[in-house]
Amino acid sequence: MTEDNDVELEARLENRERFEPPQSFVAQANLVDDTIYDEFERNWPECWKQAADLLDWENEYETVLDDSDPPFYEWFTGGSLNASANCLDRHLDDRGDEVAIEWVGEPTDEDDRAYTYEALHREVNEFAAALREQGVKEDDVVTLYMPMVPELPIAMLACARIGAPHSVVFAGFSADALATRMNSADSEHLVTCDGYYRRGDPLQHKEKADEGLSGVDHDVESVVVVDRLGDEYDHPMENGELDYADLVAEQEGAEVEPVSRDAEDMLFLMYTSGTTGQPKGVKHTTAGYLSYAAWTTQSVLDVKPEDTYWCSADIGWITGHSYIVYGPLALGTTSVMYEGTPDYPDRDRLWEIVEEYAVDQLYTAPTAIRAFMKWGSRYPERHDLSSLRLLGTVGEPINPRAWKWYYKHIGQEECPIVDTWWQTETGGMMVTTLPGIGTMKPGSAGPPLPGIDIRVVDTRGEEVEPGKAGYLTVDKPWPGMLRTLYNNDERFVAEYWAEYSDTESDDPDDWVYFPEDGAKLDEDGYITVLGRVDDVLNVSGHRLGTMEIESAIVGVEGVAESAVVGGHHDIKGEAVYAYVITEEDSEGDEDLHDRIVEGVEDAIGPIARPEEIVFTPELPKTRSGKIMRRLLEDIANDEELGDTSTLRNPEVVEDIAQTVGDA
Ligand code: WT7
Repeated sequence: MTEDNDVELEARLENRERFEPPQSFVAQANLVDDTIYDEFERNWPECWKQAADLLDWENEYETVLDDSDPPFYEWFTGGSLNASANCLDRHLDDRGDEVAIEWVGEPTDEDDRAYTYEALHREVNEFAAALREQGVKEDDVVTLYMPMVPELPIAMLACARIGAPHSVVFAGFSADALATRMNSADSEHLVTCDGYYRRGDPLQHKEKADEGLSGVDHDVESVVVVDRLGDEYDHPMENGELDYADLVAEQEGAEVEPVSRDAEDMLFLMYTSGTTGQPKGVKHTTAGYLSYAAWTTQSVLDVKPEDTYWCSADIGWITGHSYIVYGPLALGTTSVMYEGTPDYPDRDRLWEIVEEYAVDQLYTAPTAIRAFMKWGSRYPERHDLSSLRLLGTVGEPINPRAWKWYYKHIGQEECPIVDTWWQTETGGMMVTTLPGIGTMKPGSAGPPLPGIDIRVVDTRGEEVEPGKAGYLTVDKPWPGMLRTLYNNDERFVAEYWAEYSDTESDDPDDWVYFPEDGAKLDEDGYITVLGRVDDVLNVSGHRLGTMEIESAIVGVEGVAESAVVGGHHDIKGEAVYAYVITEEDSEGDEDLHDRIVEGVEDAIGPIARPEEIVFTPELPKTRSGKIMRRLLEDIANDEELGDTSTLRNPEVVEDIAQTVGDA
């Protein structure tokens, strides 16, 4: 552990109350027998055949797990399959006329679009043919910089069909962020969109994409643009970009044979923030990822083909990949996808959608639940929510008060809540109760899923006693795990394994995955996740690296140095606090403040916008020159200051605290 990481992990949440799964739910649940935990332990890793069996294979796999070269594990080796065929083609006979994607646009005066499996299959084929014609070959990385329009999952599945990994870049990210990701992945193809609606207004996206493209350091072979806004926005098309609708029309009725992919072939890349300035390209594979997404969707979200299931995340994040697109479609269910925000045109929009489409399961984030709570129960009370059978949360710890509000006002005390802990890297859920089996304890995510081996350890890797805070580790591989960081095996080992593994060993027992979260266990083996222990913030359930934000800030003229920490925020969970030292001839005035905000938005996006910027003549540093973030966090959170005795410049902390107090 570095000094900064070695935070005092203290148990924050008390979980005194317990809730049993409602009888009405248990009576119909996909999983009701708790022997599954023992069975998976006894049969590990063969237990994961259960996940593989949810897929259609072109060639059966030979080995469930190849662990001969840890931590480069391989799953279902020897098998081959296609993800798009698994999400579409195999459902056509039985469920061709059923809705696959129920898309709800933000404007309430336009028709929503329902894609049946048949219709989705058709358009995916047509777009796959178009991509091929644009020169996209197997294994070429296609970047998708798109908002929540149906053409995003269509493009993902079209890529999967021709064996081209996709790299989705969240539409809220900046032009710079797009360029960085395209450069890192050597991606020569882009699919983007003219814009989308936000709180009633059309928001342009195309010019941002163009700006991003101007920062790409290699030739870009093709750019396709979806026209979402029509007459509302006349988007520029001056550089040989192609119109999505034209391309699809030209390919009308085209059929593209799904490319046979090796189990371990890359399905997609997803960039996520880490402790350095450079985002990490997390690599997920075809069989392991897809089977794990499908298995967890079925087991944890209790999804059945006849359900209407809704995950309110953005597909630009892993949650949307696994639980709007791949998991639900692999199971042949109806997945709802909503373009807009929960408060437009009014704060009951989500509940209106739940009522209108008779949604069975709702999977959302604590940051949203805290906002609903603040707005009050009169909004959900306007609607009939009785179709709901299960509720889920993901992204950050949920405090017991928010949990109970969700349980009572949304679930009417008749829906189990699954609090699911996982990460971009894990591909799917890792820790949560099984909704038809496990007792729920608000504030605690639950036990690890069957087949998942999690321990809470101290800095030396020794297990800590129940009730004591420690670090979360995963002791056995699982099918949905990341395989490496794109083109960077070394960083993969250093970031996730080196901390607790014997990196010289080729015995898998000597390898331990470290997710960089703090946690504590209770007597029943339930895990309460305490949050990140690295320099990564969790703002509204989204991961942001402090280094990334700091390098954006020092890029602003007049800034000499900066330190970014997370401060408590009622809705966002954490908010960005930036401490800034100006250059000698520069002043910490409003102008610089605004330029810093702009600089961060340009480099990353509005989600990283600092909540507060504090100008200070110095930053608290250790004698070795490292910034003491813990103290800055104490200041941001208005807490009693921690130990300053190891500081080179202890007086500066009081000065900063004073400045913040005055602000
Ligand atoms: C980090 C992963 C997984 C999709 C959304 C975020 C935190 C996630 C929980 C939870 C407590 C949680 C962790 C984790 N986190 N879910 N249920 N309880 N913390 O994906 O951007 O990869 O972030 O989110 O700190 O490491 P991500």
